[in-house]
Amino acid sequence: MAKKPAPKSGKAKAAPRLQTQTDLSGNAIPEIAEALNGLVADSYALYTKTKNFHWHVSGPHFRDYHLLFDEQATEIFNTIDELAERVRKLGAKTIHSIGEIAKLQSIKDNDKDFVSPGDMLLELMDDNKKVIKRMRAAHEIADEHDDVATASILENFIDAAEKRNWFLFEASRTGTDSGH
Ligand SMILES: [Fe+2]
Repeated sequence: MAKKPAPKSGKAKAAPRLQTQTDLSGNAIPEIAEALNGLVADSYALYTKTKNFHWHVSGPHFRDYHLLFDEQATEIFNTIDELAERVRKLGAKTIHSIGEIAKLQSIKDNDKDFVSPGDMLLELMDDNKKVIKRMRAAHEIADEHDDVATASILENFIDAAEKRNWFLFEASRTGTDSGH
């Protein structure tokens, strides 16, 4: 009776599969996380500036602008948790501190003593446009990696930011504007 060959002790074992929370591959996780963390930082910066203007606005349109800025600040604030948790769902790290926000934000702070209401509207419009641009860039990265969940979140946030800019734009028109 033929002897069963002893199992080859030198047989290479398959390398243990590295466990990750997602099936996204390659550089997907660091690239998407970096883009989203930048957006978390900018959302904090824009939230703070919108609140700043909510607190400091003055003039004949006080009530309208005070309420508009508050609505927009709340909306921006609510995006932060969703973006940060998306990063965590991918298994990456997100923002830890105000210091980290300051390092990653592209939206500039405005610590001026007085800003006219018209300038507030224009500055917020400009900042929202920057955030929209950054969201589109993050969307592109998500698309490259087939991360449809991140892309879908960003699509909704881009729509909301464009709505904010619509309201800011309409509120910024003067009575003599011709209508375009
Ligand atoms: Fe308030």
